[in-house]
Amino acid sequence: MKVIVTKNYEQSCKTTAELILDQVRTYPCSKLGLATGGTAENVYPFIVDACQKGDVDLSKITTVNLDEYMGMDPASEQSYRAYMDKRLFQPAGIDAARTYVPSGKNDPEEEIALFNEKLYGDGHLLDLQLLGIGVSGHIGFNEPGELIAGVHIQKLDESTIKANARFFASEADVPTESITMGVGDIMKAAKIVLIATGENKVPALRKLLMDDEVTAQVPATGLKMHRDVTSVIDEELAEKIGWKE
Ligand code: GLP
Repeated sequence: MKVIVTKNYEQSCKTTAELILDQVRTYPCSKLGLATGGTAENVYPFIVDACQKGDVDLSKITTVNLDEYMGMDPASEQSYRAYMDKRLFQPAGIDAARTYVPSGKNDPEEEIALFNEKLYGDGHLLDLQLLGIGVSGHIGFNEPGELIAGVHIQKLDESTIKANARFFASEADVPTESITMGVGDIMKAAKIVLIATGENKVPALRKLLMDDEVTAQVPATGLKMHRDVTSVIDEELAEKIGWKE
């Protein structure tokens, strides 16, 4: 595991964006796995900016997103489709046909089949997967308790519902289930870049970076078995978990 410690969250977003931009500059046809959530949100403007300045060509990439809430209509403003369209795809002029964000509205079996088709149908595995990390230690929406390799419907952990209530009118409005890439799907990406910030991520980051245990109780610890993971954290988080270069 490679760890990059930056001055602050903004620098982490910039560094993370640069890792993604380097990937696309080296290989313009890159297939990218993308993430939503509050932490990843501020990574995308750096990518859009580079694209608008002509510093990168995003026209040949394809993208697959990690997850979505079950029941969520892609047309809803709260959907991860809307999040991605607004923050990356539209401002960067990326053709919607080259992007996939799972739908929470479709029949689950059909959507799982479509998700697998998008991940594996073209024989091109993800070149880079961007990840955030949940308070529960989830990656995608793979919650503690049982690790599932493939795309599946996942019940959300109480801590995730609480953490994500800020994106909804109330906690009761947060969907209780999601569709997500499995841990095995994430691990098939050639490179993984994880960005984390904030006090509430300290326990999960400690389990990810400060010991050798791989446990289904903290799904992100599975990343310790991947050969090319870069975690981008700020000084404040590094200090709180006791990380030393
Ligand atoms: C969300 C998403 C994840 C995201 C993580 C962290 O619920 N499903 O893909 O990486 O949890 O979210 P945040 O950055 O808002 O803390």
